Amino acid sequence: MPNQQLGHLYYGKALDYFSERDLDYLAKYENKAAGTVKFSEEDSAFTLSDRPQEYPVYGTSDFRSGAVEMFDGETPLYLDFKYHAHFKSKGKERVLSKPATYAETNESETLTIVLIESDHDLKMELNYTVFEESTVIAKNQRITNTGKTAKKITKMLSGHYELPSADYDFLHLSGAWLKERQITRHNLAQGTVSISSLKGASGHQHNPFIALQHKQGTIDTGEVFAMNLIYSGNFLGQAEVDEWDNTRLMLGIHPDQFSWTLKPDETFETPECILGYSDKGLNGLAGEYASFIERHIIDRKWQGQNRPIVINNWEATYFDFDQEKLLKLAQTSKDIGIECFVVDDGWFSNRGSDRSSLGDWYCDTKKFPDGLKSFADKIHQMDLQLGIWFEPEMVSPDSKLYQQHPEWVVRHLHKRIAIGRGQYVLDFANPEVVDNIYQQMKKVIEETNLDYIKWDMNRNITEAYSTYLEQNGLNQTEFFHRYTLGVYELYTKILTEFPNVLIEGCAGGGGRYDLGILYYSPQIWPSDDSDAVERLKIQSGTLLAYPLSSFSNHVSVVPNHQVGRMTSMKMRQDVAMFGPLGYELDLDQLTESEKKEISERILFYKQHRALLTFGTFRQLIELDDQNNEYCWSVYDEATGEAMVGFYRILAEPNPSVKDYIRLPFVSETEVYQVNNETVSGQVLKQVGIRKPYQFNGANHDRAQVKGDFQSYIYHIKSIKQ
Ligand code: GLA
Repeated sequence: MPNQQLGHLYYGKALDYFSERDLDYLAKYENKAAGTVKFSEEDSAFTLSDRPQEYPVYGTSDFRSGAVEMFDGETPLYLDFKYHAHFKSKGKERVLSKPATYAETNESETLTIVLIESDHDLKMELNYTVFEESTVIAKNQRITNTGKTAKKITKMLSGHYELPSADYDFLHLSGAWLKERQITRHNLAQGTVSISSLKGASGHQHNPFIALQHKQGTIDTGEVFAMNLIYSGNFLGQAEVDEWDNTRLMLGIHPDQFSWTLKPDETFETPECILGYSDKGLNGLAGEYASFIERHIIDRKWQGQNRPIVINNWEATYFDFDQEKLLKLAQTSKDIGIECFVVDDGWFSNRGSDRSSLGDWYCDTKKFPDGLKSFADKIHQMDLQLGIWFEPEMVSPDSKLYQQHPEWVVRHLHKRIAIGRGQYVLDFANPEVVDNIYQQMKKVIEETNLDYIKWDMNRNITEAYSTYLEQNGLNQTEFFHRYTLGVYELYTKILTEFPNVLIEGCAGGGGRYDLGILYYSPQIWPSDDSDAVERLKIQSGTLLAYPLSSFSNHVSVVPNHQVGRMTSMKMRQDVAMFGPLGYELDLDQLTESEKKEISERILFYKQHRALLTFGTFRQLIELDDQNNEYCWSVYDEATGEAMVGFYRILAEPNPSVKDYIRLPFVSETEVYQVNNETVSGQVLKQVGIRKPYQFNGANHDRAQVKGDFQSYIYHIKSIKQ
């Protein structure tokens, strides 16, 4: 742009034949903004008011919300970044302490554009990474103070772009405890729509994923533009539509409760944001994101790696257990084919309820009289893996840790403090706290030769105040970000020492389902709601932005503990088998036929585990707010094999709904076996699979599904003609 401002020309479908000529063509721009303020006295034709920009600053003839804001003391700086240089680099190293995308040398290229703000001695680097075989672009920024006095950053967002249209729905994943990540849409119009978290974690209520879906778009058609932040703390995501129907989409660390002091020579770096694009609707976007996240964010060692089928004792016993009970459950689990035994909350110190002992991470010898090591050995002797639950960031008022270190809690020592689930949050901005918890966890991991950790986080941060920051002369407004970095530091310490431990993320269910956590934990417990019907919605929302392999599923007892619903074992298993599978119920209370049903399903799951964990996931029925039917599919392009799950929540009398569901992924030139029938690819593509025959009051012999909460699985294989 004139005056060396960095403008933005285009973002969308790849322009494979783009040339210099096109660049000149697109660069020509006539301001729509008649009558608005001009950028400078020297150039009376130029204004930023309606200009698409790469990294905008508010109040510089642009009145929209900006991406970066700084202060010198109390004085706002109207930053004037000018292009200085650019360079490119190949590949991106995976640095454990810093969640971000990574790639081999031949897989990615990063463009860094250097901007200089000479009035205030600042250097800004804008980084853009593109990846082989992906439409995803990763974006972040680094700012360095090259001057002699400190300055304060009050806002620095990671993701930003502008589209010359408002013909979109703003789509995001909202919810609450027990109903996380439900798809929510807002009609875009002039004004701002935003989602955020100020809870110290990404949260149950909103997820740091936002998208613009074209108003006429469907699950398979239309353009979708998205952003997802690689970060686990406070965030803000927003879409602002101006008076000319330009849409500015932004995502990053929430500027509320945040500022960062940049001393001379210091650099601040924003978390990375991944920009997603597809012109093939929501399924297209979900596919792009899923394969990208598995390849370039989650540790590649888990890619294509079978996840163990777990039994988790939480809903089976809650706090009421001892080693005898657990060993019995473990033996039954082993007998039916389960591979990993996870001891959930209640194994440590004096933890008889959720009101005590967090922070004291050593064995409760009343429950384990022979110690944890002896218990762990017995589990391993059964040829089961062992998992243990921790809630590392928390402390109970009655714990020894709290008695010794009341100053390690997030609070002002002389002011009121809120309490949640009877617990306080530890000050993870303090490296000494992180190290203390690490040392305690290390001991348990070593002693038990641990295979798996369930890492929970059950309350959010209130009265954010750190004694450590106070004592070290650091601003309290840095607390939330430093806390998040402290959480990453603990992950880093554990995985450096124990790289093979599989960590499952969790936060009161799905209160921290984000790319920051997935960088360390290849899978996350998505919700404390284990009801099969509720999971249809939670899973459908989550898989728009995250891979199937990250979505940990458990079959639980009925009546379900969260909603009291009765569903069949068949439906519970049909839902839970999409993704890493587990069980969370007292198997010893089940009938022999139920146990047989489970062991048969486990056998089936083991035969198809790779497909059900890493296959390409796709919705086959349009998603709206009131789905009564869902149809999920996973498909393996290499083998032509697919698994399709059809679910109907309430039975319908004499239904008028369509009888077939098209399979867009099959090849027209092949023939397929669909359960016991043979059908051509062309028919499956153009007509579809037949929905299961519903009970209609008369077809007793032929009905394949009956009553509410129906499910039906199709196993589809390509066969030689
Ligand atoms: C949270 C988790 C549950 C369970 C309990 C234990 O709610 O989401 O799965 O681990 O804590 O207290």
